[in-house]
Amino acid sequence: MPETPALPFPTNFTWGAATASYQIEGGWDADGKGESIWDRFSHTSGKIIDATTGDDTCDHYHRYREDVALMRQLGLKAYRFSISWPRVQPAGFGKINPAGLDFYDHLVDAMLEANIDPYVTLHHWDLPQALYEKGGWLNRDNLAYFADYSALMAKYLGDRVRHWATFNEPIVIAEAGYLGGGHAPGLKGDSKSAGQVIHHLLVAHGLAVQALRAVDPALQLGIVLSEWNMEPASDDPADVAAAGNAWDNHETTFLHPIFRGHYHPCMVDAMGSAFPQIKAGDMALIAQKLDFLGINCYSRVVISAQGRVGRVPGSEYTEMDWEVCAPSFRRMLNRIHADYDLPPIYITENGAAFPDIVSPDGLIHDDRRLDYVRQHLRQLRLAMQDGVVVRGYFVWSLMDNFEWSFGYTKRFGVVRVDFETQKRTIKDSGMWYARVIANNQVD
Ligand code: FCB
Repeated sequence: MPETPALPFPTNFTWGAATASYQIEGGWDADGKGESIWDRFSHTSGKIIDATTGDDTCDHYHRYREDVALMRQLGLKAYRFSISWPRVQPAGFGKINPAGLDFYDHLVDAMLEANIDPYVTLHHWDLPQALYEKGGWLNRDNLAYFADYSALMAKYLGDRVRHWATFNEPIVIAEAGYLGGGHAPGLKGDSKSAGQVIHHLLVAHGLAVQALRAVDPALQLGIVLSEWNMEPASDDPADVAAAGNAWDNHETTFLHPIFRGHYHPCMVDAMGSAFPQIKAGDMALIAQKLDFLGINCYSRVVISAQGRVGRVPGSEYTEMDWEVCAPSFRRMLNRIHADYDLPPIYITENGAAFPDIVSPDGLIHDDRRLDYVRQHLRQLRLAMQDGVVVRGYFVWSLMDNFEWSFGYTKRFGVVRVDFETQKRTIKDSGMWYARVIANNQVD
């Protein structure tokens, strides 16, 4: 059989890897850091399936130099990380923790020395516990606190960090944090309050964009949204209509207000009396121009007229029970490109959890992860050829870490972490990814 030809990427394509503060930093109460809702949640029994916490996790807080050296070894051009709000501002407002600021200051400098471009996410779910106690995202005051914290960080790092995302996957905050309760703060609320959280997160995004632009209008600003395509189980019109509705009601929740200036009419209908309270001026604030859109995508959802399809016969599934379906990644990118007038896209997360085995040779031959990333990169390149403007790709994740309510039971890294010894080992997928970066093409 002839080999599939290699797919070259454009020069200057941003090759990166991503992490998040609570998942890798550890040092949960080190040097004046405040408590976050994830500290509180993981310290509450019954919340994390393996009864672990992120107290130490990868100990990146103390080992960031070693981790930057790993990034350099992989040849990363960019690294996406998030800032722990309570590390720099323990209560989320007022007093600043200089040691927390120093940590990010040193991290950024170490990256720049290694020629790695920092991409900051301001909020990847670890809200200061003190703010939650004032009502968290249900409290409208929280929005201004977030904007102040954003400006603080931009004043501090904006001379060296050009790319800033306000939120990571805000929908997960509303749905898992305030409705389902599987994530911190663990509220099992109603759809009315979850709807209000969605709206508050959108306005908080808008206020933060304004605050960041006021610090420096040249900063590159965006948000990171999770978008999984909703695809019909068959071409039966009833399945097609159900999948279309599911997309409109769910996956447009943040895209529509930000890029069209209003909620999708389908979503408004579906929410009925749960639709949030909106103040005059909110929608304009939400729909400010952005410089990039971050997309996190791992899989798709298959829908029939009867609802969500469980497993698709013949498909491969990852440890998260997420279907491996790279062609749907290309279709999703084409869909959002066709439906919205978008700024350039970065794939800010994509990757897979598989049960890794350390071979007798000490290596991790994680062929399935390697193949997952290869397939997704190929489909990404094809989407770019279709006309979707994509500037970069960040594999999730740089290293194995604390996977929220799954604790340490899911490994996503292209670098293995032995959580007993903190030893890092580049997996086969990581070595392969380093070659992709070096050759600027996917074989
Ligand atoms: C995404 C999160 C990220 C990680 C991956 C597996 O939804 O943004 O922190 O947990 O899933």
